[in-house]
Amino acid sequence: MNKESKTPAKVQPIEQFRQISDMKSSVWNNRRHLLDTDDITMAELDVLVKTARLCKEIMLDPVRPCNLLSSQNIALLFYENSTRTTTSFELAAKRLGASVQKLDIQSSSVAKGETIIDTARTVVSMGVKLIVQRHSVSGSAALVASTLGDQVQVVNAGDGWNAHPSQALLDYFTMTEVAGPLENKKVAIIGDIAHSRVARSNIRLLNKLGTDIHIAAPPTLLPAHADSLGATVHETIEPAITNADFIMVLRLQLERQKQGLIPSLSEYQRVYRLDRARLTMAKTNVKVMHPGPVNRDVEITHDLVDDTNISLVSTQVTNGVAVRMAILYLLLQQEVSTHV
Ligand code: CP
Repeated sequence: MNKESKTPAKVQPIEQFRQISDMKSSVWNNRRHLLDTDDITMAELDVLVKTARLCKEIMLDPVRPCNLLSSQNIALLFYENSTRTTTSFELAAKRLGASVQKLDIQSSSVAKGETIIDTARTVVSMGVKLIVQRHSVSGSAALVASTLGDQVQVVNAGDGWNAHPSQALLDYFTMTEVAGPLENKKVAIIGDIAHSRVARSNIRLLNKLGTDIHIAAPPTLLPAHADSLGATVHETIEPAITNADFIMVLRLQLERQKQGLIPSLSEYQRVYRLDRARLTMAKTNVKVMHPGPVNRDVEITHDLVDDTNISLVSTQVTNGVAVRMAILYLLLQQEVSTHV
């Protein structure tokens, strides 16, 4: 405590990292991989949030060096397109001083038919300690983890329709920044639930927290057995968003129209698009979220996306770097404690 002032002296980030690192052994020390949100414990979540808060301070303070992961080699293997996830993992790793290798899949030996296991094994042989992987096949990250998990740690950056845990964790972090604990908060998830790994990982996480989860989609964009997800299911948007604290709007995957899963874009817009008129049904302090990329004026009107009093879209992106810094640090902490 500063004797001249009643306010406590600000704890410097590196010192805070020491504090987090003291908590680590009983919590994240036994976790090797991050494949989904379903096996995350409340204790892990608590440490993640505290670490991500600190990481946000560090990332917003560009002059402060931070080399906690300076001895680590991380590979980004993105077999599917990405802007937010790949860039934020790269920035997160570099901000912590790690060496990052981003494989250009198009020009890699994947184009010659190399399997994901052989590609992973190859980068592991070069000294990579952690792989961040996105792939269109559900279960692909788990496959790498189960095959090579004794040699490399795996973060699932999206596998098919199955899971996108770092997105759900950054969404959770963003919501708690705004509203504190999410118990009994109403969260509405609107759009293509059937094909959304973001929705699945969010629902699995929010179900642990006592959140009142509502999902709304056309019947053709609801998964089979939607009732078993742990959310209240609606086929129209209005009951889902009524009195909502948060509304997560999902990207309409426009290729679904070609598959005949929605009658027409204009009908989807008329029935499911979030606009200001519909937003009046939610709580007055409702916040709107979207994992991106946004189809402006398809699933949400552009003015809502850009209204920073309502939209958390940019905050989600900023928090994505901080939360991914925390994920990388906590997963690799056993390797880095001597570098603090
Ligand atoms: N939210 C998300 O996964 O975005 P990207 O596809 O751009 O990574």
